[in-house]
Amino acid sequence: MRIEVSPDETGVANCAADLIAAAVAAKSRASLGLPTGVTPIRTYAELNRRVLRTEIDLREATGYAIDEFVGAATAAPGTNAAFYAEHLRLPLRALDVPDANAADPDAEIRALARRIAECGGFDLCMLGIGANGHIAFNEPGSTRESQARVVELTPPSRAAHAGSFGGIDLVPRRGMTLGVADLLASRAIVVLATGAGKAAIVRTAIEDAESSDVPASWLQSHANVTWLIDADAARRLNSR
Ligand code: GLP
Repeated sequence: MRIEVSPDETGVANCAADLIAAAVAAKSRASLGLPTGVTPIRTYAELNRRVLRTEIDLREATGYAIDEFVGAATAAPGTNAAFYAEHLRLPLRALDVPDANAADPDAEIRALARRIAECGGFDLCMLGIGANGHIAFNEPGSTRESQARVVELTPPSRAAHAGSFGGIDLVPRRGMTLGVADLLASRAIVVLATGAGKAAIVRTAIEDAESSDVPASWLQSHANVTWLIDADAARRLNSR
C-alpha cells in the first residue's frame, strides 16, 4: 500500500489526475472506475483542464460508475447520473452508469459488474471513503467476498446526501453497488480522502485490522493501492 500525503485538496487532485493520465498513457482503452462524492470533484476538474490543454486523451477510455441510488428518477438531483452530468464533463469513449430507476435493480448492478468483467476489469478504480468506512455503497458489514448487489443505506450515508436530494426524506433508502470483491478485482486502486472529517476513518482503514466493520480496510490486502490524502485527513496516521 502506498500513502501519498499532499498539503491540500488541490495536491490530491493533481496526484489523482497524474495517476489517471498514466493509466490511459499506458493503455488508451483503459477501463476506469469513477466515484461520485465531493472529494473527486477537483480531480475531474483537473482532468478537464488537462483535456482542454490536450495534455491527456481520454477518447478511447471508458468510465464506469461504481454505485447508484435505487428508486430515484435517473436525472433527479442527487443521483450519481446527475452528479456525472454536472461534474464529469470528460470526453470519454463511454460512461456506463446503472439506471437508478431500473425495475430490477439487483439485475441492473449485476449486469454492470458483468460488463466490467467482460471488458477485462478495471485498469484503475478510483474510490472515495465514507466517514463510516464505506467504499462505493459497501456499508459497514460488507464482507471481502461481497458482490454487486442492492444494499440498505445507513442513516449517516443518507444524511451525507440530504443536500443534493433536497432533504433527508428525499434520499433513497437503498443503493446498488459493486461489491468489495468486484472493487478488489481492479488492477490498481486509488483512494482519495480529504479534510479533517476523514482523519479518523482513514487511520482506522489503514492501520487497524481488516474487518467488515470498516469496508475500506479490505483494501489493505490489495497488491496495488495508493491512498492520496491531504494533510488534514492524514493527521491521525501513526505511521506519519
Ligand atoms: C458516497 C458514494 C461513495 C463516495 C462516498 C464519499 O456515498 N457512494 O462512492 O466515495 O460517499 O463521498 P464524499 O467524497 O462526498 O465524502
